[in-house]
Amino acid sequence: MKPAEFATLKIDDKEIELPVITGTEGEKGLDIGMLRKQTGYVTIDPGFMNTAACYSKITFVDGERGILRYRGIPVEELVDKHLFIEVAYLLVHGSLPNEEEKVEFSKLLNRNSLVHEDMRHFFDHFPRGAHPMHILSTMINALAAFYPNVDLLSMKEDIELSTARLISMVRTMAAMAYKKSIGEPVVYPRQDLSYCANFLNMMFDSPVVPYKIAPEAVRILNILLILHADHEQNCSTTTVRTIGSAQVNLYATISAGMSALSGPLHGGANQEVVEMLGYIERTGNVEKFMQKVKDKNNPARLMGFGHRVYKTFDPRAVIIKKECHDFLRKMKIKDPLLDVAMQLEKIALSDDYFISRHLYPNVDFYSGIVYRALGIPENMFTVMFALARLPGWIAHWKEMIGMNTKIVRPRQIYVGKRCKTKL
Ligand code: CMC
Repeated sequence: MKPAEFATLKIDDKEIELPVITGTEGEKGLDIGMLRKQTGYVTIDPGFMNTAACYSKITFVDGERGILRYRGIPVEELVDKHLFIEVAYLLVHGSLPNEEEKVEFSKLLNRNSLVHEDMRHFFDHFPRGAHPMHILSTMINALAAFYPNVDLLSMKEDIELSTARLISMVRTMAAMAYKKSIGEPVVYPRQDLSYCANFLNMMFDSPVVPYKIAPEAVRILNILLILHADHEQNCSTTTVRTIGSAQVNLYATISAGMSALSGPLHGGANQEVVEMLGYIERTGNVEKFMQKVKDKNNPARLMGFGHRVYKTFDPRAVIIKKECHDFLRKMKIKDPLLDVAMQLEKIALSDDYFISRHLYPNVDFYSGIVYRALGIPENMFTVMFALARLPGWIAHWKEMIGMNTKIVRPRQIYVGKRCKTKL
């Protein structure tokens, strides 16, 4: 990008001009790429609190105004009018599919929905009780052994196929992992069902009790998947871009993103929220719990609250909260955890600790309650997040590869022991 303006930086009596880069939504950044060459200085910003690690055309987030857009389209509009697979196409290809492209993409997803039969046996050898996120990231990594066309050129040429394989097959693997964990026979994908209906059917159909797919369940799952589909440079996407910059194959790259997502401060939070709500419901002491999360000497946090970028509200949480209430009402489900969640939110939003730190409910605060209502077990919540985030990760990998990005290799400030040897 060509800078239209420059900022002046004075270091050691030397003045240098730093190009000012302006994004399409007016965001400004200083390009410090030449700083070390010109001055000997590096910049330091642990946790990337104030560092743009790349240029991107995929997702725009405005944390102050609570805005989230994929490829320029507000997420509220996408949730209202589109299917998850259309949004996946939008993220990966840059525009929504027309009718013909949608049909082709659906066919490709269907053709790639079956897990290689030899891979099915892998599921038998994970220990009982293994977390599905660990199973799934291992299985995704193993895809490179089953579909070994993984040098960069082949992967670039095969991107359509690899995208379909990941988006469709990983959904089948997720349902298989669940079926295995409860000792039931796996259910195969069906091409007559939509992406979300197919997933629900593979999760809950059984030879003895056929699963009746409720349109409301399909609808809300579609919404949840769209809302989680991308979120610009979050921890797992940054992992994907970082690992991918070493030209590692796409499967290994996505598997690494998935591992990053499993952390409790990232995608793992949705499971932790429901565990926290359950704990409060059992012990019945909201006030005591709130004291604990505000105590500097206690590592506990109010899970599902706070966000690195959103400082007024998380637009995803606003949609999920409303949809959660509507869904539970329509399905006539009474979940005591929803009452606890509302109580916690009410207290937090009027407590100076949370107000002064700009801590609001994030995407994970209500999503777990919806998953519970869908019958999805707690240890599968983060898997749901991962399924949704696949198109985002793939889109970022594709964009990063297309930009011929240099290998990611930050610098550091060494603060260890000095060398005593005289040179
Ligand atoms: N409960 C209590 N205090 C909190 C919380 C919370 N959930 N979140 C932040 N704080 C406090 C924190 O202790 C710090 O206080 P002080 O300034 O007195 O030291 C201040 O707020 C700033 O927190 P931070 O950890 O420096 O903020 P961050 O931007 O590094 O972290 C976060 C963002 C999401 C990791 C954090 O808010 C958090 O741990 N939230 C709970 C976990 C969670 O819900 N994660 C899901 C995030 S959204 C989905 C996703 O991206 O995966």
